[in-house]
Amino acid sequence: MPSINWLSILPLLACRALKNVQIKVPQAVVRGRDAAVQCVFDLESDQLYVLKWYLGEHEFFRYSPKNDVPIKVFPVHSFKVDLNASIPERIILKNVSALDDPLKCEVTNEYPSYYTVLKSAELQVVDLPKTEPYIIGLKTHYSINEFIQAECHSVLSYPAANISWYVNGQPFREPYVFKRTTKIGKLYTVTSNLRLKSLKKYFIDGRMRVRCSTNLYDTYHRNIEESVLLKNEMSDEFWDDKEPETPFSEPPMDNSFVVKETFPEWFWPMSSGSSGQLLYSIKIYPLIVTWSFLLR
Ligand SMILES: *[C@@H]1O[C@H](CO)[C@@H](O)[C@H](O)[C@H]1NC(C)=O
Ligand SMILES: *[C@@H]1O[C@H](CO)[C@@H](O)[C@H](O)[C@H]1NC(C)=O
Ligand SMILES: *[C@@H]1O[C@H](CO)[C@@H](O)[C@H](O)[C@H]1NC(C)=O
Repeated sequence: MPSINWLSILPLLACRALKNVQIKVPQAVVRGRDAAVQCVFDLESDQLYVLKWYLGEHEFFRYSPKNDVPIKVFPVHSFKVDLNASIPERIILKNVSALDDPLKCEVTNEYPSYYTVLKSAELQVVDLPKTEPYIIGLKTHYSINEFIQAECHSVLSYPAANISWYVNGQPFREPYVFKRTTKIGKLYTVTSNLRLKSLKKYFIDGRMRVRCSTNLYDTYHRNIEESVLLKNEMSDEFWDDKEPETPFSEPPMDNSFVVKETFPEWFWPMSSGSSGQLLYSIKIYPLIVTWSFLLR
């Protein structure tokens, strides 16, 4: 019977007492807001010796249950630890700013093994877009086989926002979609163009729904949807009638209306009264002058 090398199986025995160490952080946090980070582990029958939290190489939180001062917090630049809301396994980071380094949690169990497991995770810090996203370029009505073009804008965020298009709820990607990203300082503006032919099948009950969906990880989601209508070719004139280009290029046809509004009743010679007589004279006077001039 071969002899057992106890030293070689010792780490395996130690391992059994500290299991499933995981660090759980959200994918992203908005700059200036709070984030909860969690360290999950299973000590089984063992005791916790120390739990340490790091940002990169900087320890910012230590929990040693047997110590006189079990909790110690060390300042870091990127956030504050909310001591009121935190427990050692779940730390609330307040007012998070740029995180250039990963977050780590390190768990060590008690004597005799002092077995240690370290896990790390990245937490993205995002800057939300400066405005709501918007769509430009869509017309209200399209004929069949016309080109439909639209632009969706997401303005100044970090990182660049993801933009996706949906037509009647169905995703549209390349070759229908073309994206441009511009960087201004540290922030990105994204313009996504959608271009497709207005096929009859896209119009459901004469209506096509065009949606632009923007997001930054799971911290930010915005949808804008616009509907465009199928132009009814037979009733083109109807649309022209509703929205004429020069609505007042011709005068109203009702002459009586014009006369009444422009000249008061007393102006006309046939009206009775002395003022009527006077005005009649004034009206014919220029004629008399003209004729007398010609007769000379
Ligand atoms: C913790 O709670 C105390 C009392 O409720 C409060 O005075 C203190 O400002 C809180 N600290 C933080 C960091 O929120
Ligand atoms: C949040 O952090 C930023 C940058 O570190 C700092 O300028 C700001 O004063 C902080 N705000 C609060 C409410 O602590
Ligand atoms: C954009 O989408 C891709 C693919 O789904 C994803 O991997 C990436 O994290 C997203 N980026 C942002 C900023 O949301």
